[in-house]
Amino acid sequence: MQQILVRPENMKRIDSPALAQAYIDEQVALIREQVGDGKVLLALSGGVDSSVVAALLIKAIGDRLVAVHVNHGLLRKGEPEQVIEVFRNQMHANLIYVDATDRFLNKLAGVSDPETKRKIIGKEFIEVFAEEARKLEGIQFLAQGTIWPDILESESGIKAHHNAGGLPEDLSFELVEPVRILFKDEVRMVGKELGLPDGMVYRQPFPGPGLGVRCVGAITRDRLEAVRESDAILREEFAAAGLQGKVWQYFTVVPDMKSTGIKDGKRTDDWMVILRAVNSVDATSATIEEVPYELLLKIRDRIFREVKGVNRVLYDLSCKPIATIEYE
Ligand code: XMP
Repeated sequence: MQQILVRPENMKRIDSPALAQAYIDEQVALIREQVGDGKVLLALSGGVDSSVVAALLIKAIGDRLVAVHVNHGLLRKGEPEQVIEVFRNQMHANLIYVDATDRFLNKLAGVSDPETKRKIIGKEFIEVFAEEARKLEGIQFLAQGTIWPDILESESGIKAHHNAGGLPEDLSFELVEPVRILFKDEVRMVGKELGLPDGMVYRQPFPGPGLGVRCVGAITRDRLEAVRESDAILREEFAAAGLQGKVWQYFTVVPDMKSTGIKDGKRTDDWMVILRAVNSVDATSATIEEVPYELLLKIRDRIFREVKGVNRVLYDLSCKPIATIEYE
């Protein structure tokens, strides 16, 4: 038995628990065959793809999977805690948690150009992961959450395959890619069957640079906190209103800009929170969600009450094109 690198043309779409279970059984056998009694390393972000890969590997080889979760300080509220709860506490994974917040934020201090921010985050991520990998002994394999659209897009030149390579030359591993031939909806179906929580399986797309591109301009800790707290409020209220899993992507943005307000009879000079909620099929175009007005007002009130340093809340009406989904 060999890893399947190309999606067979006649492969049935995995759209039922039974097909998902059959895929899991097949992959568990393939992973055991490939890995033997070796050890596998995985960068576990907590996103759908790497989480499903982790769950498959835990099922196949238990604690011979070493999962590394790097917290770059730009994750959403509660995310690192959820990764630890699900993988370490519930699935008993061999999980290494690295809080690298200070490293990332120090490197990003004063940097306002979006592409430079992205490069710093990407480079630092590889460095932190490589440092952890070098501390470990006897690892021969690297697992990755590559999925079939990644392969198709890199073949057609639309985007560089973000998973491939990137590690320094002294770290060369054989790849294990157990969801490589799956489409996103199939990865979710398999994740559900593996028992991952809905909040992980059906979560909205989240960019690699995380909240870093939503704290527009040079990132500061206090403004980043305003992004994180307002995003948590937006997500909570969308979930309570039954919009979770129905709206493609929703988040908040805090630009590096202040405006005048008034509080307790005194002038304030504070930030604004922009709410964004869009629908899309593949992120190449997007329409805006018609969020009920009452819900917008409820979110506004909570943000004013609970988030420090904010005196204005706006709702973004821009579709893609002309705007992009993210702000930078
Ligand atoms: P835009 O802003 O280009 O976003 O309309 C389209 C989709 O891609 C996500 N996005 C990113 N994902 N790294 C990622 O992994 C990035 O640097 C990045 N920038 C944007 C965005 O959230 C949306 O889903």
